[in-house]
Amino acid sequence: MKSKLGVNIDHIATVRNARSEGHPDILKAARFALNSGADFITIHVREDQRHIKKKDALILKSKIKKPINLEISTNSKMINFASKLKPYSVCIVPENRKEITTEGGLNLKNNSLAKNIKKLKKLNIKVSLFINPNLKDLKKSKILGSDSVEIHTGKFSRLVKNKDSKLKQEFSKILKCSQMAKKLKINFNLGHGLDYVSAKYLSKLKNVSEYNIGHFIIGESLFHGMKRVIKKFKTIL
Ligand code: PXP
Repeated sequence: MKSKLGVNIDHIATVRNARSEGHPDILKAARFALNSGADFITIHVREDQRHIKKKDALILKSKIKKPINLEISTNSKMINFASKLKPYSVCIVPENRKEITTEGGLNLKNNSLAKNIKKLKKLNIKVSLFINPNLKDLKKSKILGSDSVEIHTGKFSRLVKNKDSKLKQEFSKILKCSQMAKKLKINFNLGHGLDYVSAKYLSKLKNVSEYNIGHFIIGESLFHGMKRVIKKFKTIL
């Protein structure tokens, strides 16, 4: 299976918001990512809108033809926002105001999940649940009616970076989930904390529908673009 790459542009908004002016422009960034080969754009509109804002999502939806994958919490206001925006897909993620980034998968005991999945699917929005790599949560996601799961690869990515021996154990959990997802006929996506090395490792899995990668792509891109920008300034100054 040819996996798709969703580029998460949240951190472009983080840089923009540091000055509260328009640069770097989110729409330009999304178009640039798509023209560079991204299959779709991923944005996480957090309840506190600390990076991507609702307004950004509306602009992207109105101007971009390629799919938008919207990450949101289970909060009813966010589910209503997604219902109005109607992106191609919604990934429901846990959200905790104090965290720097999404620290783990969803607690699937949340009573509103089945109802919200149904509501979004009725609007022709594909639904994914961001879960930890365990079979129980995967099976529960299928029962809840989700089209896809996205496995939180944050722990795996950290173990890869630290060359930790527990890496094999974590990979084995993800592998078992990928096999079960195939049996259950539920789309299998991966995301969080991925870089070249961890992504290469995970590419051994054959049934990954989508990878969602953000922080590393945005950070690494600085090293590929800074030279050109500095050279341009040297010609101007
Ligand atoms: N997938 C999900 C569901 C996420 O919440 C995030 C972070 O917003 C990502 C993927 C991307 O993670 P990273 O920025 O670490 O690549």
